[in-house]
Amino acid sequence: MQVILRQLGDCSIRRAGSSDLISVMEINLKTLPEHYSDYFYESLLAELPEAFIVAEIGGKHVGYIMCKTEYGFSNFKKLGFVKKGHVVSIAVLDEYRRKGIGQALVEESVNGVKLRKCDEFYLEVRCSNNEAVRLYEKLGFIIRQQLNAYYRDGEDAYLMAIELD
Ligand code: ACO
Ligand code: ZN
Repeated sequence: MQVILRQLGDCSIRRAGSSDLISVMEINLKTLPEHYSDYFYESLLAELPEAFIVAEIGGKHVGYIMCKTEYGFSNFKKLGFVKKGHVVSIAVLDEYRRKGIGQALVEESVNGVKLRKCDEFYLEVRCSNNEAVRLYEKLGFIIRQQLNAYYRDGEDAYLMAIELD
């Protein structure tokens, strides 16, 4: 059974299943320069299904977010070792942007990583990606670091993070 987390007009926000992965990969190919192997998508879904979420309108996939969990040094506390959720990738098809779908995907993934008792949630984003940086800032993420030449083409990333309660 597909559990709908949230309905945004005609757009359903729900957890992904294996049968959604091909469509997720297609959205990723259309929207972002960072691509992954089939196995990587399957492993993220297997490891953190609570935060692998898709947006669908009338049977068409229009967006996704996928995440993982890690243990590591806190992005907030000196000397803190914490459990962190990590947004690996999020995208919404161009024609469906600016309708609140990206925000709903991030908010539902926050709920997902909270279920897994993460202390913090973080991600990397291209410094030039204003839309995404604004989305994350709107949801309370803060720029904590600038990562030099993080991307293959040499662009820097912002590491943005939020503390969860
Ligand atoms: N200009 C200014 N602010 C924007 C814009 C924009 N074009 N788009 C989104 N925002 C900000 C706004 O604050 C907006 O709130 P508002 O509409 O109330 O002003 C807020 O983000 C939420 O916008 P949504 O409509 O929920 O976002 P959308 O569904 O358009 O998705 C996303 C945003 C996912 C960044 C989309 O633009 C996208 O898919 N971009 C291409 C892929 C991408 O860059 N992904 C992120 C890479 S980083 C990573 O994956 C970790
Ligand atoms: Zn990352």
